[in-house]
Amino acid sequence: MCGIVGYTGNRQAAPILLDGLARLEYRGYDSAGLAVRDGDASVRVVKTKGRLRLLAEKTDDGRTLVGTVGIGHTRWATHGEPSELNAHPHVSGNIMDNGVTTDDSEVVGVHNGIIENFAELKTKLISNKYTFYSETDTEVAIKMVDYYYKKYKVGPIDALSKTMVRMRGSYALAVMFKDYPGEIYVARKDAPLIVGVTEGEGFVASDVPALLKYTRQVYYIDNLEMARIVPGEVTFYDLNGDTVKKESTTITWDVEAAEKGGYEHFMIKEIHEQPRALMDTFNSLVKEQKIDLTGAGLDDETIRGIERIHIVACGSAWHVGMASQYVIEDIANIPVRTELASEFRYRKLLLKPSDLVIIISQSGETADSLEALREAKAMGIRTLAIVNVVGSSIAREADNVIYTIAGPEIAVATTKAYSTQLLTMYLLTVQFAFVRGVIDEEQYQYYLSEIKTIPSKVERILENKERLQWFAAKFSAEKDAFFIGRGLDYAICLEGSLKMKEISYIHSEAYAAGELKHGTISLIEPGTLVIGVLTQKHLMEKTVSNLAECKSRGAYLMGLTSNGNYSLEDTADFTFYVPRVDEHFMGSLTVIPLQLMGYYLSISRGLDADKPRNLAKSVTVE
Ligand code: M6R
Repeated sequence: MCGIVGYTGNRQAAPILLDGLARLEYRGYDSAGLAVRDGDASVRVVKTKGRLRLLAEKTDDGRTLVGTVGIGHTRWATHGEPSELNAHPHVSGNIMDNGVTTDDSEVVGVHNGIIENFAELKTKLISNKYTFYSETDTEVAIKMVDYYYKKYKVGPIDALSKTMVRMRGSYALAVMFKDYPGEIYVARKDAPLIVGVTEGEGFVASDVPALLKYTRQVYYIDNLEMARIVPGEVTFYDLNGDTVKKESTTITWDVEAAEKGGYEHFMIKEIHEQPRALMDTFNSLVKEQKIDLTGAGLDDETIRGIERIHIVACGSAWHVGMASQYVIEDIANIPVRTELASEFRYRKLLLKPSDLVIIISQSGETADSLEALREAKAMGIRTLAIVNVVGSSIAREADNVIYTIAGPEIAVATTKAYSTQLLTMYLLTVQFAFVRGVIDEEQYQYYLSEIKTIPSKVERILENKERLQWFAAKFSAEKDAFFIGRGLDYAICLEGSLKMKEISYIHSEAYAAGELKHGTISLIEPGTLVIGVLTQKHLMEKTVSNLAECKSRGAYLMGLTSNGNYSLEDTADFTFYVPRVDEHFMGSLTVIPLQLMGYYLSISRGLDADKPRNLAKSVTVE
């Protein structure tokens, strides 16, 4: 997600910070900022919305920010739109109009991650006379550190550890204190943070590429640890403030590999980021065992008034809609129609004022989805956007917005955005069902607890990926593949088939299993690969029969199902099992092996999985 850099030493900090941030640019960001301190003078903070180039221009390539210690940040918005005020660093005092701050700030800091209980902490700080200038959870964290620092008159490490005990969520924090010039303090939970030390210098970064120019010896800060960095030296602490001994690790990757966290492609990195992205998205919408959609402006009265839902999207986002329609109709009893945005925008729309139009989009900029949104709005229909990029056109124009917390997605083939969109739709469904009285408290808690297990189950599937790698290598010369399933499984087949074709260029089709004998089965030849997805108990036998029909015409069968649900082994040539979750949510698990298979097929054919031919990440033309 966001990028953090820090420097303390004998050189001017700002140019080094700008250079470090440039090396983290590939992660995506919407604003950036620096805080630099010159001896014990007040810290100066400069921030900009937009590209790093603007920050470099504003500071004359760092030359106007004099000082040998500083921190920098590139922000990917989660709380609050992309803007100069919301950009990091944040200060504990007040920020001045010219964007250059401030003489009453004890603490200045940058943060990656999400503070889940920021609203509660903010209320506490406001009652203690703190004022806020931004909408960010980061400003809350920095002011919390300041609060403990002053209240207990403790040192930076104690102030940080007291804050860590109060904060829920994930964070990598880099902080400077007015009383400790030349020093940087860092703290970490569930967000990466590394430290490098050279003769007379100290470096901090959220990711290896920012440090490679200076050192290959890095220290990884572990969860709930802190560190104090001074020129040429670093000390690590645990939550009790006791020092921790740590060995450095030698980085052997080149810059390109480092950007991908050691993975060969962004796509496989992003596939592995899914457990975290799913958990972050869950935590952004569920507070104290309750789904909270008030941030999206969906109050109970609005939810009760909805008579029909139209889900409108393109590509994989449309596949999310296809899967969600089964879930919504089954759990919440609301009729749903899922449509391609490019079709929706040109047909006669028979929408009613009590309808809800949900637009799903990772980028928030897809031209057809944006126009479909505008069509619905022009008819006075309520629109809800489910979007990953904060402040994007669809997010700005929709009546209501829910953000997925997938972080920047760089690979053209979506993986973590798809997964977080699907999880968001589950939560929306369960909340709609509960508010409308379709499910009771017990069912509500059951569904919530099932959804909460998805991230760790995805993790388990990822641990088993070698079998799929082997399978993909075996089929890398395949020309055609067919994905079949019924109901929800069919919707997942659509996504599995797209993942395969868009990056491996193997022709593939997804069919509702019962449709095969209406034409497609004539394409099955000896050796044709047919992949069956089977997770819905009441449909399994039927899909197994359809698979058997393909086998009797010579097809090679792969079965994808859940542990202990059903044995496909007699029929399929190769079976892959995923863990179990409530059947409505099985798609979140079965899609993972299909993503992996698409990826491994692509690399076993020697293709660039991140940049498939003819495709763009964001399709801003019709
Ligand atoms: O940014 P969006 O979610 O609106 O993009 C929609 C599609 O263009 C996108 O899902 C596309 O199909 C991907 N290449 C799928 O991997």
